[in-house]
Amino acid sequence: MDMNELKALTFDDAIKQIEDGMIVGIGSGSTIELLIPALAKQLRNQQKHITSVCTSKKTAMLVENEGIPVMDVNEVEQIHLAIDGADEVDPELNLIKGGGGALFREKVIDAKADRFIVLIDESKQVEYLGASFKLPVEVDQFNWIMLSKQLEKDLSSRVERRMMDDEPFVTDNGNYILDIQLEKPMNAYDLHEYLIHLVGVLETGLFLDVTDQVIVGTQQGVKVLNRE
Ligand code: 5RP
Repeated sequence: MDMNELKALTFDDAIKQIEDGMIVGIGSGSTIELLIPALAKQLRNQQKHITSVCTSKKTAMLVENEGIPVMDVNEVEQIHLAIDGADEVDPELNLIKGGGGALFREKVIDAKADRFIVLIDESKQVEYLGASFKLPVEVDQFNWIMLSKQLEKDLSSRVERRMMDDEPFVTDNGNYILDIQLEKPMNAYDLHEYLIHLVGVLETGLFLDVTDQVIVGTQQGVKVLNRE
């Protein structure tokens, strides 16, 4: 099976957790873009109606195109369930996210949800966060060079401003993403605490203690990991 087939293996286990009337957080990235039409089809077949809150402008557009209502996150009292992808998942179900640059809105919605489930293919499972993926951090444009230099010095790691089509990548919030190539395993909690207090940092791609379930598409079938 190719990557997309592995991702698609996870969809049924996720969709069956959606109940009629729920407010559902919908994440961002290629997994979620594959999920959206499958979700819309199953909702139509089962005559279930949900309202969504979306973690990026792109996701909101795709969801609306499928006829699923989208609400502003500020207008909902509760998010019953959030579904998202991830770039890395460690054995404690902590995550690195932000490969698509939507990490701030993802954290707002995923962390606020009563239940947060993550859909990945098996290549995303790692021994420690930062093992294979650069850690994204969303920063203000004003002092991004100052921040990059400080991070390189303090973390002894390479830092790059994310680019797209030869232009700086700009998030839905008008900010830049700095990608940190962690040189060695670090305590993710300490690292998040250090980063989040720097002036100019909006949010980090470390999603710690927020995941309830990870559904993994593997060559051997679906594996479901629950938070202990
Ligand atoms: C976007 C994200 C995505 O969930 C993450 O990058 C995984 O993406 P994909 O489903 O394309 O592998 O965090 O900001």
